[in-house]
Amino acid sequence: MVKASHAAAVGLLALASWADAGATPAPSRSFDQITAGRAIYRQNCASCHGIRGEGAPNWERPDARGEMPPPPHNASGHTWKHGDGMLYRLVHDGWRDPFNKTSRLTMPSFGTQLTPIEIRSVIAYIKTMWTSEQSAFQRTESRREPFPPEAR
Ligand code: HEC
Repeated sequence: MVKASHAAAVGLLALASWADAGATPAPSRSFDQITAGRAIYRQNCASCHGIRGEGAPNWERPDARGEMPPPPHNASGHTWKHGDGMLYRLVHDGWRDPFNKTSRLTMPSFGTQLTPIEIRSVIAYIKTMWTSEQSAFQRTESRREPFPPEAR
């Protein structure tokens, strides 16, 4: 009898810890993604876009060469106006303002340096720099223009 109730108690304990494990959220994928994205950002993007996504000074005007400087990615910029698909393309393929006086890609292409998942992670990190209104707007844009299949 003693043995049986002991066994039952052990059983209950096992059940309780199992239930606990179920209740504790698994390490969130987006948290891992943001941590990875921050490291990628610091290594590949911060030199131009600023360590906090503040962009270059006078980024709204062409520089002496007639090129648009790197814009901010934080709430003072306009990165948040683009859906996920567009952001992915900008980073993967690179970009230059069509009115730049030079023809080089001022925003370099990262398609051969970063994997699709790394591009997605760095975008996930940039998303932490926006206000909740900007994030809500960007989520709506992304419904129309999601990440390409290779980045999902
Ligand atoms: C050598 C400098 C340089 C580096 C490094 C760089 N960028 Fe850029 N980026 C630019 C410039 C310049 C522009 C603006 C191009 C234009 O509009 O003419 C730009 C534009 C962008 C835009 C478009 C923003 C908008 O609001 O239209 C995104 C998104 C972007 N960069 C993301 C990144 C990410 C992510 C990285 C790192 C993986 C990165 N950039 C690294 C220079 C750089």
